[in-house]
Amino acid sequence: MDTSGRLGGMTRSFEKVGVVGLGTMGAGIAEVFARAGLAVVGVEADPDALERGRGHLEASTGRAVAKGRLSEAEQAEILGRVTLTTSLEDLADADLVVEAIPEVMDFKRSLFTDLDRICKPSAVLATNTSSLSVTGIAATTTRPGQVVGMHFFNPAPIMKLVEVIHTVVTEDGLADEIAALARRLGKTPVSVGDRAGFVVNRLLLTYLNHAAVLLENGLATRDGIDAAMRLGVGLPMGPFALLDLIGLDTSYEVMCVLFQESRDRRHAPAPILRELVTAGLLGRKSGGGFYDGDEPASSRADGKPSVSSVAVLGEGADEFAARLADAGFKPGYADDADVVVALSHTPVIELAAQLPHPSRLVGLHLVGDKVAEVASTVLTSPDATRAVEGLVRIVGRTPVLCKDRAEFVVDALLYPYLNDAVRMYDSGYAGIEDIDAAMRLGCGYPAGPFEMLDALGLETVRDGLRALYAEYRDPAFAPAPLLDQLVTAGVRSIRDLP
Ligand code: 3HC
Repeated sequence: MDTSGRLGGMTRSFEKVGVVGLGTMGAGIAEVFARAGLAVVGVEADPDALERGRGHLEASTGRAVAKGRLSEAEQAEILGRVTLTTSLEDLADADLVVEAIPEVMDFKRSLFTDLDRICKPSAVLATNTSSLSVTGIAATTTRPGQVVGMHFFNPAPIMKLVEVIHTVVTEDGLADEIAALARRLGKTPVSVGDRAGFVVNRLLLTYLNHAAVLLENGLATRDGIDAAMRLGVGLPMGPFALLDLIGLDTSYEVMCVLFQESRDRRHAPAPILRELVTAGLLGRKSGGGFYDGDEPASSRADGKPSVSSVAVLGEGADEFAARLADAGFKPGYADDADVVVALSHTPVIELAAQLPHPSRLVGLHLVGDKVAEVASTVLTSPDATRAVEGLVRIVGRTPVLCKDRAEFVVDALLYPYLNDAVRMYDSGYAGIEDIDAAMRLGCGYPAGPFEMLDALGLETVRDGLRALYAEYRDPAFAPAPLLDQLVTAGVRSIRDLP
């Protein structure tokens, strides 16, 4: 495979690569290069950190051996390609250096000043920054044209995406060379310009931060929100499990950078992030974060709910009532049933207020075929909520308890994310296919945002955003003008645009 590039008419080839910083990401990146047959020099600040880096490399490749994906001989070969050192001077003859140190601009700037001095003139310097300005980092060197972003995703050996970030001063052709190198590593590159958060983190972290805000607002529990997004949308991880994987410190820092650029209230880090980080609870890497290494607590209500008659209202009521009748519950009327289940994708308080026993009414929103959001109004009794939680289990779904708020949990998180993707496309920053591929390959999503929009229907999402805007008055929830126009024009898919 040709991965060579041109450098003033000369051929640039990437055979020896330096990786600076061997934390979770750096060690993963070193492994990726070594697996592809390149010689890797891994650099850490001190011997202890170096040993931790060696531990990451051994554990990650060891896991592959344990799973039978790698033989011990192959593992030894991969590890044999990695030289570990505490001296940056050992990078003097590297063709490429990828920086993966903490997200602090001053640290990065000072490192790049050193790398610029130490590395051979033809070397390319790359940063794995999650969101900091690549241009700002490049500007500290005497070779800004040879500085790019090469952004991997956690866990680096597994996630298929590499965002290749070029700046306004990046040498012509260099981003293509780095993209070709990413392909050689078995990754799919997406090339983008230098904006805070690039494609993935801008969309992903905004959504994760929103989940943290909703948790703080008491909309639903940590486990409820995680289950809703995993089982209801098919995401590989719920937002809090993913925040723990990424690291709460990194997530907090990304949010700060996004906020600095956008001044969008939704980018202001959720206070709970700052609190956990200050407490040293950084996620998986520190042994605790949103999860304390514990399994999601089961809120399983044991036994059959102690209600006999159930009234079911709303769209799909007949089918749901039939399932309950099969399970031995008597159909009832809204006025006198023990509980009233209102199938709805919008808040049910208005309906509750019209009933003689509003405390018995619970909203129910079926999400996909695995989840049901169980919405309690300010009038719902805990007994009614518990009963409906049990009924939901009886029909084979996972209940997610939540407050009776616009779009409940899943749609409240999903629609603003989709809206952000439309805005990103409309701003000209990235194309539809690139954004979709980035979210699928960078985060393991079952579909990209535009694929999700097509599946859900543009009008449904537009209307959901209007409801969110009406409730929270946050300008970011107002439907993107492009989305609104597509719906008004009767266009079914953004891909159908001429
Ligand atoms: N390191 C190395 N390999 C790992 C790993 C780790 N930390 N965690 C899991 N793996 C490997 C496993 O060995 C397994 O490999 P195999 O298929 O060769 O056997 C594979 O991943 C699947 O693992 P499991 O079966 O144990 O677990 P899951 O099926 O639950 O998958 C997951 C785990 C791949 C992490 C999946 O849950 C996922 O895709 N999660 C989403 C991760 C994500 O969104 N990452 C992006 C975060 S954003 C980011 O990194 C940018 C930064 O700038 C903030």
